[in-house]
Amino acid sequence: MKIDVTINGRERSFDVPPNTLLLNLLRERLDLTGSKYGCGIGECGACTLLLDGEPVLGCMTLAVDCDGRTVETIEGLGDGDGLHPIQEAYLEEGAVQCGFCTPGFIMTTKALLEEEPNPSEAEIREYLKGNVCRCTGYVNIVAAVQSAAGKMR
Ligand code: FES
Ligand code: FES
Repeated sequence: MKIDVTINGRERSFDVPPNTLLLNLLRERLDLTGSKYGCGIGECGACTLLLDGEPVLGCMTLAVDCDGRTVETIEGLGDGDGLHPIQEAYLEEGAVQCGFCTPGFIMTTKALLEEEPNPSEAEIREYLKGNVCRCTGYVNIVAAVQSAAGKMR
């Protein structure tokens, strides 16, 4: 099937089998490997990216359902020379260890802060509950989201 998708601001066209996952399209056809393949069954959040600004799981989204829509991945943040304020905050707060979960957390954080620029700790924990981190622990991640919110207000 032919699809047209705007990915990180650039319009792209693809011919894909109907069962192609968005995550695989990004990673295998475009070398956009920032979105991680963790569990592959919608449980870990490592593949989280934004579809028309809403967080979705790349491993649970068909590429054909993205026709005519806009996708943003971790590669779309920052400008090549500088980091996005959310990326800065994650580094400053020590919210990254192995980093495997981090792109998903950062994309979810971006969606949260666009919806709610000043979230409470409870709101942060609720919004991020679909993202799993095996090593950093959530205290530093919550602090990073609070710091990013301050930078972006
Ligand atoms: S890889 Fe998609 S939720 Fe785990
Ligand atoms: S930093 Fe390693 S899984 Fe989160």
